[in-house]
Formats: sequence, structure tokens, C-alpha cells
Amino acid sequence: MSVATTATITPATRVQGRLTVPGDKSISHRYALLAALSEGRSELGNYAPGADCQSTLTCLRGLGVEITRSGNTVTIEGRGIRNFRSPSAPLDAGNSGTTMRMLAGILAAQPFTATMIGDESLSRRPMRRVMEPLGLMGARIDAVDGHAPLTVHGTALHPIHYTPSVPSAQVKSAVILAGLHTDGTTAVTEPAQTRDHTERALAAFGFNVTVNGLTVSIAGGQRGQGRTMPVPGDFSSAAFWMVAAASLPGSTITIEQVGLNPSRTALIEILRRFGARVDVHPESVEAGEPLGTIVVTGDRLGSLEIAPDEVPGLIDELPAISALAAHGGQVTIHGAGELRVKESDRITTLVTGFRNLGINAEEHGDGYTVRGSGAPTGGVADAGGDHRMAMAFAIAALAAQQPSRIEGSDAVVISYPDFFDTLQRLIA
Ligand code: S3P
Repeated sequence: MSVATTATITPATRVQGRLTVPGDKSISHRYALLAALSEGRSELGNYAPGADCQSTLTCLRGLGVEITRSGNTVTIEGRGIRNFRSPSAPLDAGNSGTTMRMLAGILAAQPFTATMIGDESLSRRPMRRVMEPLGLMGARIDAVDGHAPLTVHGTALHPIHYTPSVPSAQVKSAVILAGLHTDGTTAVTEPAQTRDHTERALAAFGFNVTVNGLTVSIAGGQRGQGRTMPVPGDFSSAAFWMVAAASLPGSTITIEQVGLNPSRTALIEILRRFGARVDVHPESVEAGEPLGTIVVTGDRLGSLEIAPDEVPGLIDELPAISALAAHGGQVTIHGAGELRVKESDRITTLVTGFRNLGINAEEHGDGYTVRGSGAPTGGVADAGGDHRMAMAFAIAALAAQQPSRIEGSDAVVISYPDFFDTLQRLIA
């Protein structure tokens, strides 16, 4: 799908409507990887439509995995553990940090050498956080000063008990996936709870995984079984509509079939703290992942501080949360230095873009403050190649005095190709 490189956002005083959002990006990556590592066929429904999850499929194909895609249904013929084929060309992870880091854990255990490359943004992102634990397990990984391209020399790995220094679901997952290929029990103790989709997905494919507080352990040598399952709607994509409704009093947005995994939904309480009404209706559990309907009604604009210990549960929602205060109220975020190593430096990109839209925003070392004061002037904001920046700017620009322009709006293809069409529908 092609998306325009510039989007014009026309002012709107409220948003209204009922929708579903694309399949969850984090869950789609994991289902694809685990389906490939399982035995037999898997059929994944509502697979994420964005370029990132397509990158995971492309890399798996490069490893000899047979995959067919019909719309958002993806069929994967599992090859089982240690059965990937040595790739004949570098594996291209595109813009996707999750693909590169999680796949590193699997490649580390293969009996061949493979190189992973990424786009300019991914080639700037830190990879030592996975190279270090995989190195402790016996893998040798070559990088350029801790950055991609990564050349992974696979070998027989040994189990470890690892405590990452940053809370990261990608690091946890890379070590656990590597652990699945060892002869003993591998454990990760996290410094703070991060999303637990890998743990749930492993269980769904029939692997035994133990979770004890912040420690996840897995025994190597297990076999998984392919299965048919749907991917829930992406809560992080829903976040932009939830924030749009909360920041424009008089709005109501209903989002159906969205993932409600508690390790992802901290935004719900944040919106209530800001002054919105949020109703949540859990409806089902699919492959261990809860899903249901969320209704957000904008009521009043408040003032909000996000503390460092809240950041891991909100990491992908912080760009959206910033847009909450674009038209009034205040949002201050502390302890979010990790934002600087995302698809862009999300602190600088966000503060610069907001200011260019006429919104009062101030950067500090590991966070920022956004202070709205009525309708901003509007202007031109550059997404810096970052999908979540493009969406945050679009929501922030809604209640401006003049139409605004988002440069690099096509970055939404990473997670939400239909974002701008959906926005048009919700402001109509
Ligand atoms: C993700 C984990 C988070 C998140 C990213 C997706 C995942 O990154 O920001 O968008 O799917 O595991 P970190 O592991 O770097 O915190």
C-alpha cells in the first residue's frame, strides 16, 4: 500500500466513531517466529499489516521457512528447532528492532553464519544489549561498534541466568528464544516488568515456560506445535485514537477486538488520571491474549506527570500521551531516556515537531513537558522517519487554528498503513 509522504491535517474539535485497529505488531512478530520454530502448519489471522511484521516474514523466508500470505492471514509451515536453512543473502530487518533483536537469539543457535541488515534508523540503534547475553551463552556476533549489520556465527549455546540492565521485552525474548536451543534451563530476571507476549505465545505453541515474579525460565530441547490463532488489535495503535478522544472533550471513540494484555494497557489509567472516561469490556482470550472493547470519552483536560517506574509499561504510548496536552492541560514525562534510542530520538523529534506546530514543549535529559494553551497555531512537523511521531503529530494538530502538514507521514506504513484514512473517517 502506498501512503503519501505529506499529510495535511484539517482542524477538528472532536472525534467520533467505532473502529478496529490493525493486528498487534509485537504479537505478530512472536507468532511468526514461534510458528517457524514449531512443527506443522500455523495459520495466523489478523497478522499486522505494517512493514515491520512483513520484515519478520521476509527474514524467515530467507531462512527457508515456507510462508504464504493472503491479506492479513499468514500461513507458516513450521520447520522445528534447529532446522533453518543457511541464508544465501543478508536478512533484511528493515526498520524493525524487534525483528533484529529477537531473531539474533534464534540465529545464535543455528549451525551457520547469517548477517542481518537494517535501514538507516535501525543501523543506529543499540545492539549490544542482545550481543552481550548471547555472547555469554557462547555466540559470536560481529557488529559495527555495537550496531547493525550484525553477523551472527551460530553455535551450540549454553544456558545462562541473565539480568538485563534495561527493561526490554526484546532482550528478554532474544535470550529466552536462544535458551530454547540449549541443553539446560535459561532464565531472565527483568529489572521491571515488560510486555509478556513471548511468554504467552510460547505457551500457546505448546512450549513449557515458567514465570515467577520478574523471572522467566525455559528449558531447552522442547518441541512446539503449529496452530491456528488470531492476532488481537494493537493497543499501541489504538492509543492514538484513545488520546484523540481524551484530548478533545465531547469526543467518544469505541475500539473493538483490541488486545487487553495488562502488560500493555497502563495508558488506560493514565487517561483516567488526565480526566477522560475510559470503559473497558473484556470479551475473550485468544491463545492466552485477552481482548475486548475500549470506549474513551473526552471530559476535561488535566495535568499529568509520568514517573520513571511507569515508563516500561507505557514505552510505545509516550508519543501518543504527549499529544494529550497539545490543546490544553500539561504532560511531563520523567525517566524515559530509552525514547532516545527508538526509531528516532523520540524526545528531540517530538519536542521539535510540537514546537513547529505552535505547541509549548520543552526537552530535558530523559523526558519532556508539553503545556497546551488552547488551539495551537498549526504548522509543519517532520516525523523524522518514525511512525509513532507521524501519528502523534497528526493527533496534536487536530485542534489547531490552521491546517497543519506532517512531513514523512508515510512512516505510518511501519505499523498502521490506514492511519490517515481512519483519521479522516473519525473527524467527519
Ligand atoms: C517491543 C518492545 C519494546 C517496544 C517495541 C516493541 C517488543 O522495545 O518499544 O516497540 O515487541 O518486544 P524494548 O524491548 O527495546 O523496550
